[in-house]
Amino acid sequence: MNFELNENQLMIQKTAKDFAQKELLPQVIENDENSKFPLEAYKKIGQMGFLGLPYSEEYGGASGDYLSYALAVEEISKIDASLGISYSVTTSLCCGSIMNGGTEEQKKKYLPDLLSGKKLGSFGLTEPNAGSDAANTITTAVKEGEYYVLNGSKCFITNAPLADVFVVYAMTDRTKGVKGLSAFIVEKGYEGFSIGKLENKCGIRAAQVTELIFDNVKVPVENLLGGVEGQGFKVAMKTLDGGRIGVAAQGLGIAEGAFDMAKEYMKQRVQFGKPICKNQALAFKMADLALEIEQAKYLLYKAAIDKHEGKPYSVSAAKAKLACTNAAMHVTVEAVQMMGGNGFMREYHVERMMRDAKITQIYEGTNEIQKLIISGDIFK
Ligand code: CAA
Repeated sequence: MNFELNENQLMIQKTAKDFAQKELLPQVIENDENSKFPLEAYKKIGQMGFLGLPYSEEYGGASGDYLSYALAVEEISKIDASLGISYSVTTSLCCGSIMNGGTEEQKKKYLPDLLSGKKLGSFGLTEPNAGSDAANTITTAVKEGEYYVLNGSKCFITNAPLADVFVVYAMTDRTKGVKGLSAFIVEKGYEGFSIGKLENKCGIRAAQVTELIFDNVKVPVENLLGGVEGQGFKVAMKTLDGGRIGVAAQGLGIAEGAFDMAKEYMKQRVQFGKPICKNQALAFKMADLALEIEQAKYLLYKAAIDKHEGKPYSVSAAKAKLACTNAAMHVTVEAVQMMGGNGFMREYHVERMMRDAKITQIYEGTNEIQKLIISGDIFK
């Protein structure tokens, strides 16, 4: 497998890096502080073609490959992991569900505006009692004439207050277990559909996360994803496989962002008459972290290439998610430690990255769920 980036991928990587430095860095601390989403920046990544990178031009995409998309999420997340997840949720989870399960009409109707950034997307699977056990969905969808009537609620939904289009998973026939789960496209403004209060989070504070509430929401039958009941669980699982590549890219970006901050700091910071990078205990720690980052990076690139080449990628995505998000957590904790008291201060960025890293080990399948997928493959 060739991990050399081609000319186009290098160009996307550089464009994303420059954009993040110029447009995201100046506002990232304040946005974290105030839980303020960088909406203008989000719209720009749509205009630049980043949201549509892995999708064909037919649906308003940029006809790139999944690795290009991962590179863009990685570069953005080096600076702003909140925007990184918001981007990944629209592209991987909302548009991914529509691509994986939607009819041609649904793809043509919804994807172009989502991929250009005109509209924001969201993905509603998780419920209070259906987290890791996604099959335990309680929200129901009952067919009544030309509509499905949705009742129930979803929690921890990224992008919810800003989104225009939601892919929502609900039970159409509980007696069938996971085969009774169906997916629906729900638009903002449908009667009876509302969101809860903004969650007050430890990290990714600029990302907007709330509950979704369905109180007799009438969803037109043509918004049943794929036009067939009972496909929801498979579509959700397939979509999450792609989503985990996005979260891996986010985690890798956080790890690299913290590594770069620590590296610069260690060259400047003088103690006992020399820069602290001359202290072998710290330099060796950086060597270990560099190794961890590079190992994680190749797992991510492999998963993205597997997906692009049409190979099975559930297990490679799980490995990438596990390695990259564990690297994010480890590197950020060490960066704070190596930067001492300054590392603990907001203006040095790494404490935010440490807070942002934690959720990457939890969402889109906890890292324990990733081990379930990997070990299931070993012993299949
Ligand atoms: N692709 C396609 N189909 C799949 C699949 C996949 N990756 N994984 C499972 N399936 C199919 C199976 O083949 C099976 O179908 P058949 O009966 O026809 O063979 C069916 O789905 C049921 O499979 P399992 O028995 O393996 O299902 P399970 O109930 O044991 O669950 C699980 C498996 C891996 C634990 C799954 O529930 C899971 O991934 N849980 C984690 C949920 C998750 O990631 N939630 C994230 C929420 S979204 C989020 O986090 C967004 C955000 O905030 C940013």
